[in-house]
Formats: sequence, structure tokens, C-alpha cells
Amino acid sequence: MMSDIVGAVTVRPARDADIAGIVALVNSYAAEAIMLYRSPESVRMTLHDFVVAVDSTGAIMACGALKEYSPSLAEVASVAVARDAHGLGLGTAIVAEVERLACKRGIDELFALTLTPKFFESAGYVIGDRAMYPEKIRRDCLKCPRRIRCNEYCVVRQVQEAIAVAA
Ligand SMILES: CC(C)(COP(=O)(O)OP(=O)(O)OC[C@H]1O[C@@H](n2cnc3c(N)ncnc32)[C@H](O)[C@@H]1OP(=O)(O)O)[C@@H](O)C(=O)NCCC(=O)NCCS
Repeated sequence: MMSDIVGAVTVRPARDADIAGIVALVNSYAAEAIMLYRSPESVRMTLHDFVVAVDSTGAIMACGALKEYSPSLAEVASVAVARDAHGLGLGTAIVAEVERLACKRGIDELFALTLTPKFFESAGYVIGDRAMYPEKIRRDCLKCPRRIRCNEYCVVRQVQEAIAVAA
């Protein structure tokens, strides 16, 4: 059954028709304070940075985004998998697709802030220090209500290096 679900899934860059599904998925976790809320407008403005996993009907099962900070640094952001599809490898597939996008753009270093570091570690990330990313702190953390008591881990991967080793 699990392989049936995954076999019917396509992972690809996001399109206009995916916006409502991305917003619904991300905001379902934002309602539990696991992710930050996204408006349809904010997703539309950065749609070229999003990747999605869709089922055979086009329904959004997972999403993720590449958030660029400099020509060599970006964040793996907005990674979410529909609750009924957890544990099937879709999160891993989304991170890999975001990494492909990063490679296409020549970005070398990826980081994420996450409540589930084990998930990223299984995808090759290592625990890092968020102080290494002052741009992130300026852009998002200073506006975040949890900035004083943040319980997210910073995880990091040198993506070009990892691809060179794998080749
Ligand atoms: C975290 C999340 C993206 C994982 O997606 P998924 O499709 O279930 O993950 P996968 O099936 O690809 O799992 C890959 C590995 O991560 C591990 N993993 C997944 N979720 C985990 C969790 N919550 N805690 C610990 N490990 C986890 C799996 O056990 C698996 O390990 P393995 O490689 O040793 O078998 C998904 O649970 C989710 O959408 N959570 C809510 C939103 C969220 O927390 N997003 C991350 C914000 S950065």
C-alpha cells in the first residue's frame, strides 16, 4: 500500500494551480505552531522557489522551498508532508528536489531551522550553529514570537560537496 501511494506521486517544481494546496498544507502546521503561516500572495511571489509532490489527481501531498540568502547560501524552508502520507519518504524526496534546485542555481550551502533534526540528519545534514546565519536571524528570527525561547535546531549541508562525493 505504501509503495502504491509513493509510486503514484510526482515531485516537481510548483505551478500556479498548486498555490492553494501549498498554503493549506503549510498553514495546517502553522495552526499548531510547527511552521510559520504563509499567505497565498507570499507563496505566489516566491512560487519559482517551491517544489511539490502531487498525487495522480494533482492534490498536494508535500511541499518545500529554497529561500535564497546569497549566491552561495540558501535555506531549505516550508518542508511539509500531508499527515496521512508521513513516513513514506516524501519529505526526503522534497528535500532532494530542493537540493537539485539549489545545485541548478549554483548554491553550495544549505541550512534549515527545524523541530525535527533527525529527519534532516537522515538526509545528510549535520547540526550547525544558527549564529553562522545572521541574515536568517535578521530576516525571520527577530520577527518571530518564539525568538527568546526558540526550540528549533539548525542543520546544515554543503550540497555541492555532497554531490561531488556521491558522483
Ligand atoms: C518532518 C516531515 C517533513 C517528515 O516527512 P516524512 O515524509 O514523514 O519523512 P520521511 O518518510 O522522508 O522520513 C525520512 C527519515 O526521517 C525520519 N523522520 C521523519 N519524521 C521524523 C520525526 N518527526 N522525528 C524523527 N525522525 C523523523 C524517518 O524516521 C526517516 O528515517 P530513516 O531515514 O532512518 O528511515 C513531516 O513529518 C512533516 O511534514 N512534519 C510537519 C512539518 C514539519 O515539521 N516540517 C519540517 C519543518 S523544517
